Amino acid sequence: MPERKQFRAIKGTRDILPPDSALWNWFEQTARETFESYNFGEIRPPIFEETELFARSIGVETDVVGKEMYTFEDYEASDLFELRTAIVTWYKSPVASGPPGGLGMGALAEFTPFAGLVRNFHLLGREAFDQGRIPRTPKNDSILRDLIAERDIFITSVQSQRHQENQQGVEHLKELVRELELGDSLSLRPEATASVCRAYIEHGMHTRPGNVKLYYVGPMFRRERPQKGRYRQFYQIGAEVLGQSDAPAIDAEVIEMLMTFFRRVGLTSTTLYVNSIGDKNCRPQYVELLREELRKVKDRLGPDSQRRIETNPLRVLDSKLPEEQPVIEKLPRIADHLCAECREHFAKLKEELKLRGVAFEENWRLVRGLDYYTRTTFEVTAAGLGSQNAVCGGGRYDGLVELLGGPPTKGIGFAIGSDRAILSIQEGGADFAKRHLPSLAVFVAWMGSASYPTAVSIAKKLRECGLSVELPPEEMKFKKSLGLADKLGARYALIIGEDEVASGSYSLKNLADGKQEKFGESELLEYLESERRSG
Ligand code: HAM
Repeated sequence: MPERKQFRAIKGTRDILPPDSALWNWFEQTARETFESYNFGEIRPPIFEETELFARSIGVETDVVGKEMYTFEDYEASDLFELRTAIVTWYKSPVASGPPGGLGMGALAEFTPFAGLVRNFHLLGREAFDQGRIPRTPKNDSILRDLIAERDIFITSVQSQRHQENQQGVEHLKELVRELELGDSLSLRPEATASVCRAYIEHGMHTRPGNVKLYYVGPMFRRERPQKGRYRQFYQIGAEVLGQSDAPAIDAEVIEMLMTFFRRVGLTSTTLYVNSIGDKNCRPQYVELLREELRKVKDRLGPDSQRRIETNPLRVLDSKLPEEQPVIEKLPRIADHLCAECREHFAKLKEELKLRGVAFEENWRLVRGLDYYTRTTFEVTAAGLGSQNAVCGGGRYDGLVELLGGPPTKGIGFAIGSDRAILSIQEGGADFAKRHLPSLAVFVAWMGSASYPTAVSIAKKLRECGLSVELPPEEMKFKKSLGLADKLGARYALIIGEDEVASGSYSLKNLADGKQEKFGESELLEYLESERRSG
């Protein structure tokens, strides 16, 4: 008997079950319809990409790339992988080592198997390198060279019984073996903007007419500390516009579309914050100014902000630590340091939003946690979510496509956190959410084996009419049958007994008011279908 074990979903992941899954489908379907009405088309990029794609676009200094990615090595050379594991987990067995500090042939015998493993690893590694089964990088080439030289030094030290050096030699060889790259480094996507830009370049989408308008729906992965509204597998619905123009009307239309979607799904207790973080002409000066000012107040900041003064001072503005707030409020504001072009772009965006009736608040501290942003940034918060209240983040990222090796391209987009948005809908407007849950229309209460074929046939016909129908697979007592229909929340029970079969009619019981009526087959189908249409 295998050991009994209770499997559970991995920390930070969860199952979305009926009836909630129906709410999710409706939410995602409404996004699709809304975005398609703005002429966006769906892109389905893969869930994993080269790690470097994310590192380059999101930025190596960001939390998302630096700490939170699920990264793995994708290798073909499984023989090398096994050998590598044997080497890095090798330890000098106490049985083989004999008495402590033993002399003579002992040390040679102890370390020979390890030296043999390293030798095989080198031989196989070199062959795999030549065949291109492992990355043919200069780094791998040099590791393979070093490996054989270091192994020879190690054997000499073992033979001359320099015991201290032997152990150091083992550690050094293990380190080299670990460093050999057996395959590409891949990561589960922490977001999808980078993938969309990669796809835009890969498929030469810049040759398509007009702006390329894409949306995506799917899971993202970040190794964050799980809490309410924060998961390690979470879901985003995002939209991106790529092309030659950076007209503020594009930013405004994207934001209008987002807020229209939120309104359609009943997420109305939201606040939209907008900001401009300048571009490559004006931001560097502002960042330097900010850094200088932050250095002056360094001892009034916590360790994270102190570190960020040097690595990424803009992120200090993101801080939620109460004791840092009075310091941050007095810092220079980006709006006062934008170049003329960025200032005009931001002013036009605000005009455009007003023109479209989109309410917003300016927030000079909205800098966002990813490195690719330039000019417009925005975020939407919603009620009922506690500290994780951002349901959407977005902004402009002109130049990102170029950074990834594509043609000069402007870009703007956003991503909605579906988990949080749905949580907020459920908490704020349960009735609204309930209206979108599917309901069981008909429970077929059949009794007696003679009525079974009729039950099967009518269930099929009702389902063809688009009704949700439950047909018990085994005969049930009448009372039990109606009890189950009630528990399942069915609107009607369709009663089929021997009398009904004999008379070619059906009894339809409304489970809410208990009223029962008899129908012929075509009348029944007509009646239930018109009920379905009227909702
Ligand atoms: P982001 O701000 O990192 O932006 O994520 C967007 C939204 O995803 C957040 O506002 C939040 O609702 C949700 N989210 C993020 N992390 C988690 C998590 N661990 N658990 C639950 N929800 C989460 C981006 O991802 C950018 N790619 C947005 C973008 C698109 N910018 C331009 N285009």
